[in-house]
Amino acid sequence: MSVSEANVIEALRPVQDPELHRSIVDLGMVREITIVGTDVTVVVALTIAGCPLKAEIDKRVRDAIVALDGVETAQPEFTVMTDQERADVRQMLHGDPAATAGSQPTQGHSEGRSIPFSDPSSKTRVLLIASGKGGVGKSSVTTNLGVALAQAGKTVGIIDADVWGFSIPRMLGIDRPPVVIDSMLVPPSAHGVGVISMGFFAEEDQAVIWRGPMLHKALEQFLTDVYWDEPDYLLVDLPPGTGDISISIAGFLPRAEVYVVTTPQPVAQKVAQRAATMAEKVQLEVKGVIENMSWFTGDDGQRYELFGAGGGKELADKIGVPLLGQIPLVPALRAGADNGAPIVATDPESESSMMFRDIANRIDTELAPTRRFHPELKII
Ligand SMILES: Nc1ncnc2c1ncn2[C@@H]1O[C@H](COP(=O)(O)OP(=O)(O)O)[C@@H](O)[C@H]1O
Ligand SMILES: [Mg+2]
Repeated sequence: MSVSEANVIEALRPVQDPELHRSIVDLGMVREITIVGTDVTVVVALTIAGCPLKAEIDKRVRDAIVALDGVETAQPEFTVMTDQERADVRQMLHGDPAATAGSQPTQGHSEGRSIPFSDPSSKTRVLLIASGKGGVGKSSVTTNLGVALAQAGKTVGIIDADVWGFSIPRMLGIDRPPVVIDSMLVPPSAHGVGVISMGFFAEEDQAVIWRGPMLHKALEQFLTDVYWDEPDYLLVDLPPGTGDISISIAGFLPRAEVYVVTTPQPVAQKVAQRAATMAEKVQLEVKGVIENMSWFTGDDGQRYELFGAGGGKELADKIGVPLLGQIPLVPALRAGADNGAPIVATDPESESSMMFRDIANRIDTELAPTRRFHPELKII
């Protein structure tokens, strides 16, 4: 029995666009299907020209069609959507910003679109990863925690908001900017984590020119113009210290949870405490402390506390939150961060990977919000 066009469409329905995570049939990407005997040709419309995932889409389409009874060969051919078709895709996935155009932009809104994560009905937990100063491993923690959550089956996005040192794309091994579909940014992803970074939009050495209002605007766009698709978790790598960004975030994301990263040094702990105090001032809830660089285990099996001991616990006690974990110093963690190979993915059995998984699990279970106490978020 020869295969029909309807058979081909049904076979293609479960095939998803690798970044939009929707059926290519539903997205309107499947065009003419030509069947000659056992040979099938299908025209696939990519969202943008030079789509970085063309090869992956080609493979998925081929595999799905060849699996059909009565098909010998499958040949995808590619075309590109028109502006109108792209606008339709954006509308389908992300709603229509024009629907409320004309209304005054207010805090928490960009061009009339509200920030999805500020809504009490949003299922996304926003985790702000904060530190008192740079170099304590905040970005390493954000990256590995994100990957650990993804490994646990959660959908995860990361906003790299540290304008003084964007590093998340490098740590995850992402070297391409977001795809733009009719003004909607689709975050590139690796290890199951989608990322938007200030670094995609500015050269690293331009960081110093970012000023408060620009940061505010950029952050707002990262929350509204990016297709996050309601992830379970959105992690934000904050700039170190207590800058303008914390205030913007508190306004945009009143339900965000703050996690403070510190080293075991008493001095670092004091600086970290300022970040916690700042968060509390803007009414963000600090939920836990993560100590990094806690010790180094030598070849002799002995633990060496290179940066002292006790800082994480002391800070956690002062704030009145749990110390969620202590991550040892491991050369592979540093190497992985430099090479885009997060240790949680590349060496899951290492001491630090197990710790990251444990922290992710505690955040996911123990610290899961039950009821919200912010009066403005009362659910009736
Ligand atoms: N637990 C660790 N073991 C080994 N190296 C680490 C560890 N945590 C962080 N590093 C390294 O220390 C440096 C600073 O970490 P990073 O995550 O960039 O800090 P921050 O974001 O706080 O500035 C990076 O080179 C990183 O790879
Ligand atoms: Mg950093």
